[in-house]
Parts: sequence; structure tokens; C-alpha cells
Amino acid sequence: MDHAGEYDEYTLTAELYDHVIPYRDRPDVAFFVEAAQKSGSPVLEIGCGTGRILIPTARAGIDIVGLDLSERMLAVCQEQLLKTPQEVQNRVQLVQSDMREFKFPQRFKLVTAPFRPFQHLTTVGDQLSCLKCIHRHLVPEGTLILDLFNPSLPALTNQNVGDELGDEPEFVMPDGRRVLRRYRTVERDYFNQINYVELIYYVTTSNGDTERLVHAFPMRYLFRFEVEHLLARTGFEVEAIYADFDKSPYGSKYPGELIVVSRKVGD
Ligand SMILES: C[S@@+](CC[C@H](N)C(=O)[O-])C[C@H]1O[C@@H](n2cnc3c(N)ncnc32)[C@H](O)[C@@H]1O
Repeated sequence: MDHAGEYDEYTLTAELYDHVIPYRDRPDVAFFVEAAQKSGSPVLEIGCGTGRILIPTARAGIDIVGLDLSERMLAVCQEQLLKTPQEVQNRVQLVQSDMREFKFPQRFKLVTAPFRPFQHLTTVGDQLSCLKCIHRHLVPEGTLILDLFNPSLPALTNQNVGDELGDEPEFVMPDGRRVLRRYRTVERDYFNQINYVELIYYVTTSNGDTERLVHAFPMRYLFRFEVEHLLARTGFEVEAIYADFDKSPYGSKYPGELIVVSRKVGD
């Protein structure tokens, strides 16, 4: 697939990503590293972004391919990777590609999509195309881990559309810029299960100038049984569903996460 000239929604904000407090502190790294150690190499991470999970996985001795559509996110990942020992770099391959249609010569023991890349696919056609592609790239009985949010019904029906919200504290970039992050739901499409959201970054430089950067994107939410049906349609058997990265079972808290571990059936 040729991505030249494609719109990169992370152009303005990729460099901020690793410093955003809830991303930096997200308690999922050990979960994915452990899954990779259990399956063994090679692993494919779909939507690897800046390498938040990919780099610790490679540091743990796993060969991993990171696929992402965003040139900017991959550039940040590459920059981070260059700070690691050569042996870690040697375990990593970064590829700019679309998760709906990709092709690698090798097959993987584990495919992961940490922190919701799969929710960037807004149609059932795209979801099926991605899952079929993953299926083709897994070894027999290989594992797929989809990491989704569990839709909160109260949050979906609140009246906050259009309002800028958030209470995260400011964070500071290594170059001293101060960043305040807020978010906004611009529109809710209940029929197609899509929230159109904006992440808004107020970036203040040392001379006091503030810039407002907006990362706008659609986010498709999926319900538990819908995911199970999609997986069944594409040749996967669900093995476990977790509400959190501590492996507490789905349903033990609300809304919790929707972390679905499934196994490839057939070849
Ligand atoms: C929230 S980030 C997650 C990054 C990383 N997995 C992590 O855990 O920090 C979602 C990533 O999905 C990527 N993405 C979105 N749509 C994609 C597509 N169609 N194909 C490949 N990657 C995509 C974005 O570029 C972004 O890097």
C-alpha cells in the first residue's frame, strides 16, 4: 500500500504522546510484555505508535514487528529506539502500513493491538478486513489480543457534546514547554457507534505564547458480544476477556476495559 501524501492525524501531536500523563502511566506494559514472553517470538504489534509497548517488549528479548499508519508516530518510535542498545534495535522492525491490509512474509505467534488502535476502524468491513489479515499472519493456534474500552452507557448518554472537558494536570516537555490537555466530543453517531472526538493541547513556550493544537479523530466503540461475533466470523476462539490489565475478569468492574484474548482456529 502506498501511503505517500496520506493525511497523518498525528502530525501536530506525535511528539507529545509519550509525555501525556495517562499514556505515560498506563498500567498495560507488563501485561503485553508478559504475553509476548509467554508466546515467544515473533510478535506483531498493530498500531505500535511511539513504541510505548514495543520497546519494552524488545528489551525483554522478543523479536517484534511494529506496524502503524502514522509516519510521525513511527518517527518518534524510531527516535526512541535509537536510544536503546543495538541488540534491542536488532529485534525490531517498524513498518508503515494500514492494519486493514498488510502483508509480511513471516507468521507471528502473537498479534496485539494495545491501547485501542482497532477502534480507529469505523466500519464492519474494515474490522473484518483487519481481523482476516491478522488471521492470515498468525501461526496455527496463535494468539490475538485486542485492547478496547468497554463502552460506558452513562458516559454515552451524558449531555457534554461540544464542551471542552478534562482535569489532568499540566505536563512539561523536555524542552520546557508546558502542555495542558483537554478533550471534547464533537458529535455522537449512535447508529454507527462512533464518537467524533478532539484531544486539545494548549502548548505554552518559555516566552509565554500559547498554541492550541487539535487532534481530531473518530472512535468506534464495540460491545462485548459484538467483538465475540466478529472474532467468530474471522476464525478466532475467545479464550479470556479481562476488565483490566491485572486480569480481573470482564464484568468485575464497570465500565472497565474490554481486553479480549483469542486463539486462531484452523490455518
Ligand atoms: C492510541 S495509539 C496506540 C499506540 C500504541 N499501541 C500504544 O499502546 O501506545 C493508536 C495508534 O493506532 C494507529 N492507527 C490508527 N489507524 C491505523 C490504521 N488504519 N492502520 C495502522 N495503524 C493505525 C495510530 O497511528 C496510532 O499510532
